[in-house]
Parts: sequence; C-alpha cells; structure tokens
Amino acid sequence: MEDLNPEEEGQHEILVRTYAGLEEVLEGEIRKLGGADVERMVRAVSCSGDKGFMYKLNLALRTGLRVLKPIKKFSFKSNDDFYNEIMAIDWPALFDVDKTMIFDTLLFSEHFTNSMFVSQLAKDAVCDRFRKDVGRRPFIDSKEPQIYISVYVRDQEVTIYLDSSGESLHRRGYRKEMVKAPLSEVMAAGILMMSGWTYHFPLIDPMCGSGTFSIEAALLANNIPPGIFRPGFAFENWKDFDKELFDMILESLNKRITEFPVNITASDRSFTAVELARENAREAGVEDDIHFAPIPFDKQPTPEKRVFLFLNPPYGERMQPEDIDALYGMIGSTLKHTFGGSEAWLFTSNQEALNQVGLRPSRKIKLFNGPLECRLVRYEMYSGSKKASKNPAA
Ligand SMILES: C[S@@+](CC[C@H](N)C(=O)[O-])C[C@H]1O[C@@H](n2cnc3c(N)ncnc32)[C@H](O)[C@@H]1O
Repeated sequence: MEDLNPEEEGQHEILVRTYAGLEEVLEGEIRKLGGADVERMVRAVSCSGDKGFMYKLNLALRTGLRVLKPIKKFSFKSNDDFYNEIMAIDWPALFDVDKTMIFDTLLFSEHFTNSMFVSQLAKDAVCDRFRKDVGRRPFIDSKEPQIYISVYVRDQEVTIYLDSSGESLHRRGYRKEMVKAPLSEVMAAGILMMSGWTYHFPLIDPMCGSGTFSIEAALLANNIPPGIFRPGFAFENWKDFDKELFDMILESLNKRITEFPVNITASDRSFTAVELARENAREAGVEDDIHFAPIPFDKQPTPEKRVFLFLNPPYGERMQPEDIDALYGMIGSTLKHTFGGSEAWLFTSNQEALNQVGLRPSRKIKLFNGPLECRLVRYEMYSGSKKASKNPAA
C-alpha cells in the first residue's frame, strides 16, 4: 500500500486525461508549462508538480480534459480490502462534510465487472469514514457536485484520485450557444496545434457552426488561457485551496496574453450558426479577432495568399447518403479550384464520405472524439501546374 502525502512533499504526481490521439500534443503543452517527469500514456499524460502547477494546468492547458491528483494507490484481494483501503484515507482532511460529491470509476479488472458497483463501494467507504470522524456524511449530487472522486482499477491495483478540474476542461465556459453537432473545444485546440498553424497565416473555418475552431485559434494565437472563462474548478472546494496562490498564477498567465493581429474567418451557410459563433466569440472576448460571414463553402472567394482551412463538415447522421456524398464531393472540388496553394485540415467520423473528397491526403490521423472513431486529414492544394494533388482513383 502506498499513501501519497502531497502536503508534506510539495511535489506530487499529476495525471492529465485527454482524447485518444491527442497525447503527444498534451505532452508538449505540459512540458512547455514546466512539468517535470512527463510521461506519455494512453489517453493521458502523467507528470509531477506542486499545487500551483496543478492550478496552472487547469487554467492553461488546451488539450487536457481532466487534471487528477492521486491520493492513494493500493492492491486488494477482496471487496472488504477495497473498502477498508478507501476508508483508511483521511477524507475529512481533504474536504468538508458539507461538500457534495460524485464518483467516477474506470475499470479494467476481472475482479469487478460493474463500475457502478465499484463507485458505490467507494462512496460507502468515504461516507463511513466521515461518519466515524465527524458524525455526518457528505451527499452525492450528480448535477452540480463540488468534489469529484475518480477510481481507477486495473486488475487488483487501484488508484484513488481527486479530480481537481471538476467539470471536464473542454467546457471552457465561453460557449453559451451550440449548433447540433458542436466540436469539443479540446479536440479543436488539439487539431489546431497538430496542424502547426500559427497566427502568421490566415485561417478559415468555413463550416464554423458554433465557432469552436475560430475561437480556439484566437485564444491560441494570443496565448489566452482557456480556463479563465470557467465558473470554477473542483480544487476550489478542497480544504487546501490556496486562493492567494491561485490568483497569483492567474495573474501571471494573464500577463502573458499577447495582442497579435490575427486573420480568422468564421463562416457557415447557416446565418443562425454564424450569429451563434459571433455570440460565443464575444463571450470569449475574441469577437474582434474574427471576421464572420454567412456564406456557403462553394461560394468562398479565392484568398490572396496561402491560408489554413479547418473543416468540420456534418458527419451525415441526419442526411441522405447521396446528399452527404455530394457535400464531401463539393468540399473536394472547392478546395481544388478555390484554394490552390493553401492547406486544409478536415475532421470527420464519416470515413466513407471522406472518399468522396477525391483529393489525396498528405496526412491521415486517427482520433477519438469520446467513443467515436474519427479521421483528421490534411490536404495540400498545389497551385499552378501541380494544382491537382488529385487521387488518380477518384
Ligand atoms: C458539424 S457542424 C460544425 C460544428 C462546429 N465545428 C462547432 O464547433 O460547432 C457542421 C456545420 O457545417 C455547416 N454546413 C453544412 N454544409 C455547408 C456548406 N455547404 N457550406 C457551409 N457550411 C455548411 C452546417 O450549417 C453546420 O453548422
């Protein structure tokens, strides 16, 4: 059994979860922010840092979903063992009995088959420890919990985490309005960072929906920490929350915000979507960085210089197969005829429709949007005689 006592050691292990496929970008972000012992894992990156670094990760990371602090690791042989190990954690030292809780279990074990059962067992142990020490128990709130407890079981090995983020970090707080299939902010930021786009290049988000690519690009270009719009983080409900330290970190991140001139266009064939995007950009304070245009993709004007396009077309769940094929076909021909010399990144879960684009991708990356397997492809449209980077088979 290993008891982790971060208060004495200052530095502690931190685990940041992300989407499958974004681990490398996340690793780069953590290193850049100053993380030590950084190690890439599956759907996560681990590192070590102190309390302040944990606050910083929550505020500044673009591709992290949750920042977890392990509080105990142990192995177990029986349900009683499991319960007793969790009961032995000094929970009342970590948070007040009046805080509400939620449990989340990730299970890769033959001992347990039901994650709900494991969460229940963990909850009983936490509540019993509180009853023993303070005579009362904290309650569960599945809608607006204050304390997030995460249980990870692999075979007979368990790690208990306090989730310092609370609500997933993709919920930045700026997106008040959404179209039907909005892109996760974390995924949008990850795609932008993978593409190598910088503010030196004009960016077009021609199927912008609620504007996620455009807004994340404006935040990225100007070094605006995406966490500053959030109403709060779970660590603010911990007993060791250091408001002064948090404010200091927030201030130092805010000082690094730049004001580079960016050239970002958010457009969509739906006027309503463009207005939603504008509203969300206003919430994020980047409305002035983005040019908004209600225009169908095939009516886009030819840009004067090389641009980066980021496309997140409909996946087609609510469309006829022939319509979705025609849409992806139109994307290919517009890229080829209007955007020679530019570069496009297209993200979709519809791999069949992707074949209709008819251009040969120079990169193809597998990504998972939650459980949904997606493809991110890059098309480089040559100008002049090499214009056709066309798939001969198409
Ligand atoms: C999956 S949504 C994009 C979601 C967006 N990335 C976001 O974060 O909200 C697809 C968008 O493509 C737009 N769209 C579909 N066909 C279009 C076309 N021919 N030209 C421009 N926009 C189109 C839809 O109106 C919709 O807003």
